[in-house]
Amino acid sequence: MNNKRTFFILLFGVLIFASAQGQTSSPASLKFFPAQVWNDLSGNVINAHGGGILYHKGRYYWFGEKRGQHASEGVNVYSSKDLYQWKFEGLALAPSKDAGSDIAEGCLMERPKVIYNQKTRKFVMWFHLELKGKGYSAARAAVAVSDQVQGPYTFLSSFRPNGNMSRDMNLYVDDDGSAYHIYSSDENMDLRIARLTDDYLRPTNQDSLLFRRQREAPALFKYRQKYYLITSGCTGWAPNQASLHTADSLFGPWKLVGNPMEGPQADLTFGGQSTFVLPVQGKKDSFIFMADKWNPKDLRDSRYIWLPVRFDGKDVKISWMDEWNLSWFSKK
Ligand code: DGJ
Repeated sequence: MNNKRTFFILLFGVLIFASAQGQTSSPASLKFFPAQVWNDLSGNVINAHGGGILYHKGRYYWFGEKRGQHASEGVNVYSSKDLYQWKFEGLALAPSKDAGSDIAEGCLMERPKVIYNQKTRKFVMWFHLELKGKGYSAARAAVAVSDQVQGPYTFLSSFRPNGNMSRDMNLYVDDDGSAYHIYSSDENMDLRIARLTDDYLRPTNQDSLLFRRQREAPALFKYRQKYYLITSGCTGWAPNQASLHTADSLFGPWKLVGNPMEGPQADLTFGGQSTFVLPVQGKKDSFIFMADKWNPKDLRDSRYIWLPVRFDGKDVKISWMDEWNLSWFSKK
């Protein structure tokens, strides 16, 4: 009797262990499948477009646009320890019910990015804001803060940085803790950079033109003391050719290198548009290029293209792969 009971207790234990393993590390899920449907751990399609990732205390947090078929519904956040499996953490920033708010329901919140301020211990979100009913004419940057990484974030203000139009954007925190806003300006003709105040809540007037080449979707990273900036052309939701610029200083001069994409549809960024370049934690010189493959008929159904960045001497290449995993970085 006792033996039988012990046997069943052990069997139960083994089954629980096996099922927990299955949930957290099923081999099939430990891969990236660029441009294919990507579900979160609850089985729902990940809804985080034009996004970016913040690494905080052992977890990655993926912030992105929550989209309806066309509507902009706020900023979603997901968390992950391994970059493959994402847990939905909720709506980090919701549009406001107050019709007088800059972020009143019906506004457009695009390309949200979150950085952490060590001095104020606040998480700071910047995004591209368009006011309700005004198309893309407001061209503003907007800022929200939270004490917790997953939010909820409190909207603070929206503005044109130093009076400049501001549409597609990204944030970058340099090694010394100074933060920067990179943004498309002057009807997207210009790409500009502004250093942020120490609390990361406003732009300073250290704000200058990077280049005037009608580019958007900026994604900036640093590799071996050099800055790399990937951008797209301006063709709405339709894909176009990416370009890479490099510089020794954030304020330039920026040198045009060319298109870093390789493989089928390389001249159309594989059907996608840049949104972020993620440094992989604990893997030196390892970066993931993140892009959106927009579906303008149903924006929430837009797909994600994540691919590793390859350094070939001074050259940067991003090659198409149907599937891959992080061990790619050990083999390169
Ligand atoms: C291209 C931008 O990169 C997107 O974020 C979005 O603003 C679309 N244009 C809208 O057409």
